[in-house]
Amino acid sequence: MNSIVTVIGATGHIGGVLAEKLLAHRVKVRAAGRSKDKLAPLARKGAEVFAGALEDVDFVTTALRGADAAFLMIPPHYTAADMRADQRRLGANLIEAVKASGIQRVVVLSSLGAGLSAGTGPILGLHEFENAVRSVAELAAVILRPAYFMENHLGAIGLIKHAGIYGSAMRPDTRLPMVATRDIASIAAEVLKALTFTGITVREILGPRDYSMQEATSILGAAIGKPDLSYVQFSDVDFKKGLEGAGISADVASNFLEMNVAFNAGTIQNTAQRSAANTTATTLEHFAREVFAPLFQQA
Ligand SMILES: NC(=O)c1ccc[n+]([C@@H]2O[C@H](COP(=O)([O-])OP(=O)(O)OC[C@H]3O[C@@H](n4cnc5c(N)ncnc54)[C@H](OP(=O)(O)O)[C@@H]3O)[C@@H](O)[C@H]2O)c1
Repeated sequence: MNSIVTVIGATGHIGGVLAEKLLAHRVKVRAAGRSKDKLAPLARKGAEVFAGALEDVDFVTTALRGADAAFLMIPPHYTAADMRADQRRLGANLIEAVKASGIQRVVVLSSLGAGLSAGTGPILGLHEFENAVRSVAELAAVILRPAYFMENHLGAIGLIKHAGIYGSAMRPDTRLPMVATRDIASIAAEVLKALTFTGITVREILGPRDYSMQEATSILGAAIGKPDLSYVQFSDVDFKKGLEGAGISADVASNFLEMNVAFNAGTIQNTAQRSAANTTATTLEHFAREVFAPLFQQA
């Protein structure tokens, strides 16, 4: 019999690709998100739609009950007045629903750096969520810890268009692993298709290699016909001001600043050596050409 997998965040970067990959392999997908309209394309491909919010434990329990496994993620709410409280609330609801539904296997979207217990900004919420997942008796979990998403660079399109520069609070020479979200979805799909995992496993996903912010800027610039695009390290104050100007709450902006500072200090690191198992195919050059450049031109 085909297995049933609930995908939380099925319209997101990772959940969306994951749901499509599972459907293509004849897995029965329950696609969960807040908007029935946004979930409609997945419904047309055969998914059962669960429209509702993670703030509603009964909704989440219904989406999980009877499924063989679930993909769990804590969606980023960029306007949250208190980011950690929001992450805690959503995480607690997911855990309560896992327990109430009796589901036995989950794949958890966490992050590189989630092993650290302080100073990592938004990643700290995932550290707490991982601990909550581990505390559920007899729950088998594959915890995915992906690196910095290449999709984060899409947030710079407005800055590049209007100011002709790229920047963040990271130093130009700060090197970090960057990964395409579709490659994270591929790994999640392999795990959820096989459904053989037991116990708790942590998998770091490191993308093709590490890039400095300066190097990333050159790669993105080349793809949009701006080979001389320069990277600017913003002061902490200007970085926060820029995020808040883009509609992000002051608290979320502070969390992102803390994460940038941690990347600069080298505290957010992979714990495993780079290997074939944690290295993924999509290069930043490919992402820049195939994803970034078309969206830049459209914007
Ligand atoms: N950015 C990075 O570099 C990075 C690195 C490592 C880990 N992470 C983690 O990855 C996660 C983000 O993954 P992503 O980029 O795939 O997310 P995303 O694209 O923002 O997708 C979020 C999904 O959650 C749904 N959603 C949002 N709020 C909801 C709510 N209240 N109730 C129910 N559904 C809700 C959204 O759909 P609707 O809006 O249609 O409801 C969407 O399907 C975060 O936990 C983040 O910390 C990020």
